[in-house]
Amino acid sequence: MAASARALVAAASAVLAVAVLLASPPVLLPAAAAEEGCTRRPVVFAFGDSNTDTGGAAAALGSYFPLPEGRAHFRRSTGRLCDGRLVIDYLCESLNMSYLSPYMEALGSDFSNGANFAIAGSGTMPRDRPFALHVQVQQFIHFKQRSLQLISHGETAPVDADGFRNALYLVDIGQNDLSGAFSSRLAYDDVIHQRIPAILSEIQDAIVTLYYNGAKNFWVHGTGPLGCLPEKLAEPRGDDEGGDLDDGGCLRTLNNASYEFNDQLCTVCNKLTSQLKGATIVYTDVLSIKHDLIANHSGYGFEEPLMACCGYGGPPYNYNASVSCLGAGYRVCEDGSKFVSWDGVHYTNAANAVVAAKILSAEFSTPSVPFGYFCKT
Ligand SMILES: *[C@@H]1O[C@H](CO)[C@@H](O)[C@H](O)[C@H]1NC(C)=O
Ligand SMILES: *[C@@H]1O[C@H](CO)[C@@H](O)[C@H](O)[C@H]1NC(C)=O
Ligand SMILES: *[C@@H]1O[C@H](CO)[C@@H](O)[C@H](O)[C@H]1NC(C)=O
Ligand SMILES: *[C@@H]1O[C@H](CO)[C@@H](O)[C@H](O)[C@H]1NC(C)=O
Repeated sequence: MAASARALVAAASAVLAVAVLLASPPVLLPAAAAEEGCTRRPVVFAFGDSNTDTGGAAAALGSYFPLPEGRAHFRRSTGRLCDGRLVIDYLCESLNMSYLSPYMEALGSDFSNGANFAIAGSGTMPRDRPFALHVQVQQFIHFKQRSLQLISHGETAPVDADGFRNALYLVDIGQNDLSGAFSSRLAYDDVIHQRIPAILSEIQDAIVTLYYNGAKNFWVHGTGPLGCLPEKLAEPRGDDEGGDLDDGGCLRTLNNASYEFNDQLCTVCNKLTSQLKGATIVYTDVLSIKHDLIANHSGYGFEEPLMACCGYGGPPYNYNASVSCLGAGYRVCEDGSKFVSWDGVHYTNAANAVVAAKILSAEFSTPSVPFGYFCKT
């Protein structure tokens, strides 16, 4: 990572700390402020899981995630599984746009900057089960057809044909599929050679379907380091697995699978770029970003890279599968900004700020295009 980028991230954390102290409205990350402004209203449609869910599961399933969820930023329950903002929230801030409303939130939603179809717990398979990626894409198609129908009848809709055409379509999914494959004790080679290609074929199908429904600007996130999640680290390990920990204390085998997933995903994105005429498909290596954040955590101002802030059981991981964050008897740390992991699976508001700043640097993207490329031409 370049020194200037490191300085940016440090500055971002400082701004963040001040923002939290003053309880002021969202403060732009310097990396974002440095970007040129949009020349048209930015519209983003997001698809994914809890990493991107800004309240979809709460709206769709009636799930309730009370404080301390949200405590570091919104100071109230928002349906996010985080003490504050998700990466998608920081990306939206970078374009001065409002946070994305969940597609299924009936009250108070504003879809003029797009809609968020991501739902916590989602994966790519089985493809027709709510709210798998395929279902999310079908919901988008409904949203688009309904919008254009309203407009053709002389009524208004938050996004018009131009808006859909120039929108950004963001996809961040697969972590639950990959995690589930290992939880179900699928053999490593089968995960790599069968399950991952099956997951990626769903992601490819989603991109192609969106493309044939008029999308041309895509933003695809790779998966994170599965082997660094407190949830995975806290699972009992056999003696023979003791040597599976890398220098940073993460599980090599799971991280290896994450690297494999991303290699194959990047290949899919490159292939689709050459096949889908006029499409821009940006792949961002979120794994390198997150792995670096964890392995070199002190350089980013974090003290606990592998222990959940909110959980049960205390060090080293403060994670117990039978007592989750919000579960009876859970404990929550005092200062979440020193923790990378919020609840053993999801990152903290502070960690997401660093991840988003790095995504915005475009340093980890192929092609190396700034996040706001879609609203500037
Ligand atoms: C966001 O707003 C700031 C301040 O008004 C401006 O400097 C910046 O260029 C804007 N960024 C975008 C992406 O529109
Ligand atoms: C990691 O992946 C490489 C390349 O696929 C493989 O050769 C190696 O055995 C894997 N290591 C582990 C610990 O799974
Ligand atoms: C940690 O930082 C060092 C020095 O910048 C870098 O070489 C290394 O790749 C980083 N670790 C990870 C896991 O990214
Ligand atoms: C998890 O918590 C339960 C309930 O307190 C306890 O019985 C169990 O031993 C804990 N599991 C581990 C692995 O510590």
